Amino acid sequence: MCGIVGAVAQRDITPVLLEGLKRLEYRGYDSCGVAVYAEGELRRARSTERVAELLSQVEKDKVAGFTGIAHTRWATHGAPATHNAHPHFSGNAKSSPRIALVHNGIIENHDELREELQAAGYVFESQTDTEVIAHLVDHLYAGDLLEAVQQATRRLTGAYAIAVFCRDEPHRVVGARHGSPLVVGRGVNENFLASDALALAGTTDQITYLEDGDVVDLQLARVWITDSEGRAVDREVHTVQVHTGAAELGPYRHYMQKEIFEQPRAVADTLQDIESITPELFGDQAYKVFKDIDNVLILACGTSYYAGLTARYWIESIAKIPVNVEIASEYRYRDSVPNPRSLVVTISQSGETADTLAALKHARGLGMEHTLTICNVATSAMVRECKLAYITRAGVEIGVASTKAFTTQLTALFLLALALAQTKDKLSEEKEAESLKALRHLPVAIGAVLALEPQIMAWADRFASKENALFLGRGMHYPIALEGALKLKEISYIHAEAYPAGELKHGPLALVTEAMPVVTIAPRDELLEKLKSNMQEVHARGGELYVFADADTRIGSSEGIHVIRMPENYGKLSPILHTIPLQLLAYHTACARGTDVDKPRNLAKSVTVE
Ligand code: F6R
Repeated sequence: MCGIVGAVAQRDITPVLLEGLKRLEYRGYDSCGVAVYAEGELRRARSTERVAELLSQVEKDKVAGFTGIAHTRWATHGAPATHNAHPHFSGNAKSSPRIALVHNGIIENHDELREELQAAGYVFESQTDTEVIAHLVDHLYAGDLLEAVQQATRRLTGAYAIAVFCRDEPHRVVGARHGSPLVVGRGVNENFLASDALALAGTTDQITYLEDGDVVDLQLARVWITDSEGRAVDREVHTVQVHTGAAELGPYRHYMQKEIFEQPRAVADTLQDIESITPELFGDQAYKVFKDIDNVLILACGTSYYAGLTARYWIESIAKIPVNVEIASEYRYRDSVPNPRSLVVTISQSGETADTLAALKHARGLGMEHTLTICNVATSAMVRECKLAYITRAGVEIGVASTKAFTTQLTALFLLALALAQTKDKLSEEKEAESLKALRHLPVAIGAVLALEPQIMAWADRFASKENALFLGRGMHYPIALEGALKLKEISYIHAEAYPAGELKHGPLALVTEAMPVVTIAPRDELLEKLKSNMQEVHARGGELYVFADADTRIGSSEGIHVIRMPENYGKLSPILHTIPLQLLAYHTACARGTDVDKPRNLAKSVTVE
């Protein structure tokens, strides 16, 4: 993860670097730092607080200059402490530092390089793998920074994006990428580097996406890119309009709450006034691809993985195509049996998740060429790497815990199930019309669930004092139980687990006491009576049930059973509606516990390291 910004210009570049950092905080916020060239030396400010604090330090210490790099960190090697914060410096201890470097990614051979550099006399100030690169560049430096970086990157194994500059060549920043994103932004007599075009919005919209192995030499009026073989290459310049995400909070306390309430709009935007189901919703070649495939392989992480688990129920039931859903970080390393007739679907809010990207490349390497991504960022690596795509239109999600990105993924996946069914002649006209009607009404239905917020807040007050919680669901609501448990643990730090309700008696029932709240998703479906029996098993052992029950389930409140009634039963789309109260429960429980809801500890919004 981590976010990088770099610039060469003829004006004080610190405000641009710090504004970029603020926008990149979604990539990590353990610490941050900035370094510039000024009056013949490198100057630096670093902080373990947020960018706002760094800004006051920069003003106090007068850190200003025409060339600079900045970084927001998500710690991998070394605790979140000032001495581990980037930029890292290197250079002869007797003179002022010569090299400043920031890095996103993980260097796997850092131990071996560290030993080598220590033997060459370098003294390390941090526990990071990054400092190794700074010293390596310095060690190889013989008057040309580009050459030193090219040589240094040949020695690195692992994933990285770096930006580096040198006291002795003050109008130059060199960047390199291998496995972690890095873009170049072009201006007039000034040029920029960043992990994401978002960091440069308002400064430039002329963006070049670097490819793996690229090294870029950034000067005032020149951008020079070489590929992994050291050959000069032209990379396309795109005009990229990005939302800055600097959205106002309006009446909301946190971005997460705002984003929960934006779901009716986000789902409506994702549906884009679709008038009929056609494979072409997923790309020009979709019909041919959908005709050719005989199974679906879904690859994703975290919340996106739970969207994939839900989609399995839909695709198998509606399109009658077998589906496998795999956690990307597992799939990429296991021996699997490839099927060239698989439709490989990656699901990713950011489109930059390292494990999902690597799993996609792995699948392609195994000969599976039919690839589709469901993604919220049209310009992301995932979209560029896949043959087909459906862009969800959730808008920028600032809260680290995914909410509207998840429900829009589910919306897109439901459309995918319908489009696959149609291609395989499994979707009658009546079914299509009925499904479209339900989809169109979905934003209104979500709005009605959001109105339950006051009742959910009352529950959240009770949850705030708990240390554990169980979530139960059955069938296509089991992945929603998993998502509910993940939301609660991420932002309230309460330990929560989810189980298919029928599985409880095979072990987890031992955990149930009066201290254990058991959140139950109770839609009116064919498994309802089975679910009621599972609830009795909990009730009989003194567990406190908190049930989100559809109106016609005949589940009533009584001693030890608390019920919030869902406004309507929503058939196959019910998992989307049942997600909403679980998001609100997690959100209000976290508020009651006073956690940093939008930036929960140890997490980051975009996970670009493995
Ligand atoms: C949880 C959450 C994460 C992400 C996961 C994958 O609230 O947001 O679990 O879902 O890190 O991220 P994307 O979807 O960007 O690939």
